[in-house]
Amino acid sequence: MTDGTHLTTVETVKEAGSWLFTVRDAYGELDEVILVPCEDGVEGWINRCPHEAQRLDVGRGAAMRNGEIVCPRHGSTFDSCAGDCDNGEAAGTRLVPVETTVDDGDVYLSDRSVTVANEGGIADADTSPADDVDDDLPSSTSHIGF
Ligand code: FES
Repeated sequence: MTDGTHLTTVETVKEAGSWLFTVRDAYGELDEVILVPCEDGVEGWINRCPHEAQRLDVGRGAAMRNGEIVCPRHGSTFDSCAGDCDNGEAAGTRLVPVETTVDDGDVYLSDRSVTVANEGGIADADTSPADDVDDDLPSSTSHIGF
């Protein structure tokens, strides 16, 4: 039996190109994580470019090109398996990993420093009418604290 919280399937991540979910740390802080296809299954990364804290998936799936995640702000690309970047503004940086496990095609969150808050982004968990999110508008606002 696999230890960890079931997230989705490898097939779903491969079909969608990326899969966004939100985690909560020990202090109650929320952060977003993207799962992206990798040679041996999937990898999990904090949904934030290390260059200027830009969300990689702004709510429509991360842009992927030739097995790399493309930052929407300046276009640097990150190896989806290793998380490192060797080009553009973010050259020399690496995405923050979130440990996941694949078992029989299912993906589990095995990183013990966080727990699953919800599928989708941080905004997707907010049901407050005062903070309604219009899905038709470009999602350029980051909900991630600095
Ligand atoms: S914010 Fe991602 S490359 Fe600049």
